[in-house]
Amino acid sequence: MNKIKNLIIKRGGWIFILLFIVIIFINFNSTPPIRELAKNTVTVKSFSTTIIPETDLPPEGTRSLFDHIIAQNGVLPYPYEKLVNLIQALGPETEPIGLLIPHGRSLLKGQADNSHPRIVSVADSDAVGNDVSIGLAMRGRLFLGFVENASEIEVLSYNEVAGRFEFQLVQNYCEGCVPRIVYARRAICTTCHQGAAPIFSQRPWNETNGQIATAGAIIAARGNSDSYHEVPVSRPLSHSERYDQLTDIGNFFIATQRVWLDGCGEIGNDCRREMLALAFEYLDNAGNFNINSENTNKIRVLQEKYFPKNNIQSLEGKTSLAPFALTGISSGIIVSESDLLNRDPIGEKLGILGSIRSLITREIKFGEGAKDNEDLSEFEKLPALRRELDPLDIRAPKKIITSKDIDGVYGVASFFTDYDFKSIYKYYGYNIKAVRSKIYSLPNEFFNPKPFSRVNVLKALLGNTLEYSYIDTSEMSPAIASGIPPLEIKEFPELHLYSENCFACHRGNPAKKLNFMAGNTEKEVLENIKAKKEIRDALDWERYEGTEKANKLMPPRDSTQYEILQKKGEEKDKILKSMREVVPGLFEF
Ligand code: HEC
Ligand code: HEC
Repeated sequence: MNKIKNLIIKRGGWIFILLFIVIIFINFNSTPPIRELAKNTVTVKSFSTTIIPETDLPPEGTRSLFDHIIAQNGVLPYPYEKLVNLIQALGPETEPIGLLIPHGRSLLKGQADNSHPRIVSVADSDAVGNDVSIGLAMRGRLFLGFVENASEIEVLSYNEVAGRFEFQLVQNYCEGCVPRIVYARRAICTTCHQGAAPIFSQRPWNETNGQIATAGAIIAARGNSDSYHEVPVSRPLSHSERYDQLTDIGNFFIATQRVWLDGCGEIGNDCRREMLALAFEYLDNAGNFNINSENTNKIRVLQEKYFPKNNIQSLEGKTSLAPFALTGISSGIIVSESDLLNRDPIGEKLGILGSIRSLITREIKFGEGAKDNEDLSEFEKLPALRRELDPLDIRAPKKIITSKDIDGVYGVASFFTDYDFKSIYKYYGYNIKAVRSKIYSLPNEFFNPKPFSRVNVLKALLGNTLEYSYIDTSEMSPAIASGIPPLEIKEFPELHLYSENCFACHRGNPAKKLNFMAGNTEKEVLENIKAKKEIRDALDWERYEGTEKANKLMPPRDSTQYEILQKKGEEKDKILKSMREVVPGLFEF
């Protein structure tokens, strides 16, 4: 023993001892594998979870905002910048925020690097409505994460009717590919997105291109400072800050649903009624809102009656709640922590600690790790992050709302857009008391325990004939879960040309009327194609080009499919002809 000790000491072995300790520390200080976490995600059983389920697919008759937008638009725009432009066009007042994250902590982190950074985008605008329709609300409700090398967009968007965020993927999103819009395995997403809502790092956001060093690394790797998919490479830090705020806004919608349902409980319709009335008082005068008025005290009394009792104590032992044991809070509603500690991937490599770390932690090589969201075993092979930086580690709640807090009021208010409030205010003669009376005249059933819905409230206050184009699912194709394999063409080779030229827009399209190449087997798909007689005309370029029907010709002139077909020159006519032959003409029998 002594000999070894002497040897180590003589050779300056303290470095080795130090390294050894650091290795042990790092190994013990990492989070369990993601698959284990996904199995064990601790869902806090509460009344609201019986109303808002944690199923992968959206509850029957409801869909994500993203699906509604794509269904309304007809097709999924490609490339990515066109998708962002669509969001911009729907809410032109403020531009969506876009950031670049070359070395992040998302599931696809191994597929992004300085030359092809991850792009995250979020809508920061709401559309105005008019006398017949309710304006589209997108701010803080629609988030995208695009990793070009994974050909995948992750989508997080709000479901107005179900009162939850939906986790979706656009897979195979690449030039000339057939993209698939699917619902992800929610349990996997919520290992990191612990509130079932958006998450983001905290100030000073070193992972983002709001930091000069990160922007500089991207410029160096790309060899120029041109924007990447129309996202400028250098951005002021205010963009990262705004993005962060919007993730907090999104996260709070979910906390508000819990207060609305758990805080007022199964029978507290009076509590929900008062919460809504107060939300408009707050919107009327946010700056001078009296938090100790007669009405705010009234909501406290109602909440006291209905709030869950001792539910925090019964959850103790869960590490994330430990900080609250100290405060003596025993009942309340959890606001999940949507903020991750800032991580500085460039700074981590600097200094003495940085060099020790880089000796023992392997760097992620580009292309390693999950190539898509199904690829968990590859994700697990990546070097682990320090526990406090790892989004997989269970985070303590941001806050626990107690019955004395009136966060539910602020939360309900946050669902309404500026335009919503202005229209209501005007409608009720600029008299907030009249709004309160109207709310107090609504039937009791209106406040039955259902997810809070902005649209329902607007209809109740402004007239039931108002329409909202982003709710009705009757014209939509069924939602698809991830993991179902794409169609493999073996038996009917005539499907190949349809796959190349048409599937991108007519299979898995959320709009039912455009989903006419759907089907689980080759045979089904072929039958559906044959049954769609309009295809013959849509492919008859010879006959209709130059006529007023030319805009009905397929593939559409502004699509990549059209471009690729054009490049084929003379072969194009043969391709169109053989595709037409698949669909029997009307007079062929
Ligand atoms: C290993 C942790 C992890 C898992 C698992 C994960 N994400 Fe994320 N995700 C992140 C982090 C961290 C961010 C924020 C920073 C970034 O994008 O790099 C993020 C951001 C996002 C964003 C941008 C909006 C936001 O919250 O900032 C979307 C959209 C998204 N993820 C969707 C998904 C979907 C869908 C799944 C499930 C298939 C999923 N994520 C699973 C870690 C994860
Ligand atoms: C880039 C997306 C895209 C591609 C690729 C595409 N379509 Fe379309 N298709 C559309 C859109 C959008 C409409 C609806 C146009 C409208 O309503 O005017 C449509 C409409 C149609 C219609 C009319 C449907 C109806 O009920 O009236 C037919 C038929 C059709 N497409 C066939 C095809 C065929 C065949 C191909 C492949 C050669 C194809 N499409 C490729 C986007 C696409």
